[in-house]
Amino acid sequence: MRTLTALALGALMLGAVACGGPYPQSTLDPAADFGSHIDELFRWIFWFAVGVFVVVESLLLFVVVRYRARPGAPEPERVHGNTLLEIGWTLVPAVILILIAAPTMQTIFRTDGTPPEGALEVDVIGHQWWWEYNYPELGITTANELHVPQGRPVSLRLTSRDVIHSFWAPRLGGKRDVIAGRTNRISFTADSAGVFLGQCAEFCGESHAKMGLRVFVDDSVTFTQWVAGQRAAPPSADTLPDLARRGWEAFRLIRDPASNSCIACHTVQGVSGGVLGPNLTHMGSRSTVAAGALPNTAEGLARWLRDPPAEKPGSKMPRIGLTEDEIAALVAYLQLLR
Ligand code: CUA
Repeated sequence: MRTLTALALGALMLGAVACGGPYPQSTLDPAADFGSHIDELFRWIFWFAVGVFVVVESLLLFVVVRYRARPGAPEPERVHGNTLLEIGWTLVPAVILILIAAPTMQTIFRTDGTPPEGALEVDVIGHQWWWEYNYPELGITTANELHVPQGRPVSLRLTSRDVIHSFWAPRLGGKRDVIAGRTNRISFTADSAGVFLGQCAEFCGESHAKMGLRVFVDDSVTFTQWVAGQRAAPPSADTLPDLARRGWEAFRLIRDPASNSCIACHTVQGVSGGVLGPNLTHMGSRSTVAAGALPNTAEGLARWLRDPPAEKPGSKMPRIGLTEDEIAALVAYLQLLR
């Protein structure tokens, strides 16, 4: 009895802890039409599952208790076939399956990713282990932090540069595979402004767990400001303060081997044109670095530059062997790229 009480209390405690929140990645709190369609379907099916569970478990418990073996009890009578029962337990599940299948099919078609009229198109490209976003309509390229306007349909065209990834921002909509050589789509209209966390949801190698993403749903004024900021030219070298100017020089330095140079992999508009890593033209405007692995602060940035594979195992960005002076200068420069 004591063991049972302890177990029950333990289970209750776990349950209570699970109710604590907040749940930044909960599909049960949708913030877009796509997420809501899935949530509605889930709730509908959930109650059928509850009904089936209650009926089956009650019958099971009843039979176990009522017909259990007792000392001296005779062999139970064997019964074969009961037409009414057999018709019943064929028909009832068939009806339940139809009630589940019809809305499921409907939801599949509603969420197939067909871009709605007037949708903002964004090309989403999965890389080991970060996300590239191109807005062809706006001429913007950014990484890891997707900005979308509230209330306007958005159509994401998903593809990969390497292995299979999966784009998933749970509160906005369902996950969808990101595959090289093909284009999958996610379309949604976000109904509330805010920051929505997401995650690569397909195992894609060593740092799969560090392939995070953030979707910023901006109201129209904020989105317009963001677009203007992303389209602005980065500061020119002669306007940079001293330290940042030295950072700009370190950024452009061709090192030995040349693959250890910033400019070999990164674009800063007007400075360099590398395409292997995230576009850094406005990286100072992002809230995190390394696909959300570190905050975009002076400390976070310095940690990343010092030893990328320590923060993100397997990272394509190597340990360049920057001096602390170079790191301080690069941090000052990158933070000005707003
Ligand atoms: Cu990309 Cu997991």
